Amino acid sequence: MSYIEQIDKTRVPQHVAIIMDGNGRWAKKQGLNRFFGHQAGVTAVRKITEACAEFDVKYLTLYAFSTENWNRPKEEVDALMTLLVDAIERETPDLMKNNVRLRAIGDLARLPKNAEDKFRGCMRLTENNTGVNLVLALSYSSRWEITNATRQIAKAVKEGSMSIDDINEEMLSKSMTTCEIPDPDLLIRTSGELRISNFLLWQLAYAELYFTDVYWPDFDKEQLAKAIVDYQGRERRYGMTSEQVNS
Ligand code: IPE
Ligand code: IPE
Ligand code: MG
Repeated sequence: MSYIEQIDKTRVPQHVAIIMDGNGRWAKKQGLNRFFGHQAGVTAVRKITEACAEFDVKYLTLYAFSTENWNRPKEEVDALMTLLVDAIERETPDLMKNNVRLRAIGDLARLPKNAEDKFRGCMRLTENNTGVNLVLALSYSSRWEITNATRQIAKAVKEGSMSIDDINEEMLSKSMTTCEIPDPDLLIRTSGELRISNFLLWQLAYAELYFTDVYWPDFDKEQLAKAIVDYQGRERRYGMTSEQVNS
């Protein structure tokens, strides 16, 4: 039986976050330039978004470009930004057709102006769509986000619009770029790397982690189903005992 058939439709994770890794190695394995890996990665994004709609996953967050990725060679950064602009232009009609809402987390102001404009335009256009929320992490890092949130809170306290007693976990969550998005239930990282790479450190507090050796361009609907089935076999205890959770 395929993993797709094994999914329990009543217990699908509400939010799946993915560290899409391995584009470069996927290309290299076939003697191609890294660029082709990123291109194939865009196709995988499209397929996984469609799979989430089919499985009824409400939020899909994809780590597309980290703060640290700005340190890659200029040719690669430029190629990634061009791919991003092209992908948004090409995919916007289908996002509308498929009722997908595009959202972003990260320092969008750091993107090239045309990329930022395209992105904001597409977010506005899709903001009333009620299907999958496709959240792209762009120029994102968790430490950047937490630092920003801290600064905002300190400013509000200094100006007197907030008191120190108002600072609690809920308030901190609301100060993150993910303020309108529930915490991920399942985090997937492709390509065999076993690390978080500065992604959603606050929000992943109780996410289930799933690592696979598959490179991102090869990650397909069946691979996603496999991760969801694995997730469904786990017991999320949130610090309690198994007996408590099951009573
Ligand atoms: C992930 O693939 C995509 C981005 C980080 C933009 P990589 O480009 O990191 O691929 P590898 O890890 O070098 O194989
Ligand atoms: C993490 O992948 C960032 C994205 C997937 C966008 P990297 O390939 O940049 O991470 P490291 O450098 O191997 O940790
Ligand atoms: Mg990588």
